[in-house]
Amino acid sequence: MNNEQVLEALKNVTYPGFTKDIVTFGFVKDVVVEGDSVSFLVDITSSADEVRQQLEADIQKELAKIGATTINATINQPKAPREMSNSVSGKNIAPHVKNFVMVSSGKGGVGKSTTSVNLAIAMAMQGKKVGLLDADIYGPNIPRMMGVADQKPEITGNKVLPLKAYGVEIMSMGSLMEPGQSLIWRGSMIMKAIEQFLRDILWSELDVLVIDMPPGTGDAQLTLAQSVPVTAGITVTTPQEVSLDDSRRSLDMFQKLHIPTAGVIENMSGFICPSCDEESDIFGMGTTEPVAKEYDTELIARIPIEPAIRIGGDTGMPVIYHQPDSETSKRYQEAASKLLAFIDKVNDEGGADNQAIQPTTPPGVSACSTGGAAASAPKEHNHSGGGSCGCS
Ligand SMILES: Nc1ncnc2c1ncn2[C@@H]1O[C@H](COP(=O)(O)OP(=O)(O)O)[C@@H](O)[C@H]1O
Ligand SMILES: [Mg+2]
Repeated sequence: MNNEQVLEALKNVTYPGFTKDIVTFGFVKDVVVEGDSVSFLVDITSSADEVRQQLEADIQKELAKIGATTINATINQPKAPREMSNSVSGKNIAPHVKNFVMVSSGKGGVGKSTTSVNLAIAMAMQGKKVGLLDADIYGPNIPRMMGVADQKPEITGNKVLPLKAYGVEIMSMGSLMEPGQSLIWRGSMIMKAIEQFLRDILWSELDVLVIDMPPGTGDAQLTLAQSVPVTAGITVTTPQEVSLDDSRRSLDMFQKLHIPTAGVIENMSGFICPSCDEESDIFGMGTTEPVAKEYDTELIARIPIEPAIRIGGDTGMPVIYHQPDSETSKRYQEAASKLLAFIDKVNDEGGADNQAIQPTTPPGVSACSTGGAAASAPKEHNHSGGGSCGCS
């Protein structure tokens, strides 16, 4: 047995997930043959355990065919990529933010932005360093609700400084566009916009970034979850059954995206009459709790319909700050405390992790040839010959 025979045999070992073999990729090094024993190095680019195991098995099989009895193959793998931000792991393109909270809803108009604003300020009032990102690129309402609609953010280099109000750092597409202007978004633009929001805004070191998402479950949600480890998801709903159907989709999305679900906020839940303070049932009440239970989570607040909430939003004077003693503000504060406790719990248990939802194909490589095991591909070699993805 000689080196050439060994290399020839190893050409039958394809790199898992690709159609090319480990010799063609240039992974095999330092082959030494002594009688029937063979030793060599295999330098691979994937840190996945499955990839190593499959290679070991295939190498054994192919070399046994040419009569090798002792096979000493050392497989060198890079360390698993773990970008750490405190106890958070997985991909994080905004590592100076400790925790990300995704506020979502099945549909628009249920009070997602109102909830994001009041929760963000409530947490700031409880002493946390809080940012509020308006990722609702279709209907960016946060600047008006936070009273900064007429302010333009400062740009330094290619970075943007967030605005600030009520102790909260704020950024919104609304602050970057002319008033009343509309943008038509394609999928790829949405992904770019979300990434830029996370990467190019000079947030300070934040304890929590509250993210007001566009309604529904689409590209923006997926991109966000793949870009940063989301510590907690909150779904805002109104109590009507039709709204609850949409909320189920939102809760299901958290599960699919591996986002720990902090809970559901039932908004517009009953009406507190401003003249008599009495609470009455308009859209229904208490319908949300069973839905939360279905998804192993809880109802974290019932926020009544209150004119002060709407006026606070319209005038940029949020109720939580301007009427801190109202029943509604107490409920927002309680929800904020529960959210912070939930975040602590997630971090104590090892933190949020978005590795499971990273794309399995590297940039520029088509998914057609790639099995789930090949998380990382040989970058320098996969463009040589044939299709760039290794497909034949
Ligand atoms: N609990 C509430 N009581 C009264 N008005 C509310 C309440 N929640 C939201 N609103 C008002 O309802 C409208 C829609 O809320 P918004 O937060 O913009 O919804 P979304 O972001 O889900 O589209 C806004 O005018 C807001 O001020
Ligand atoms: Mg909104």
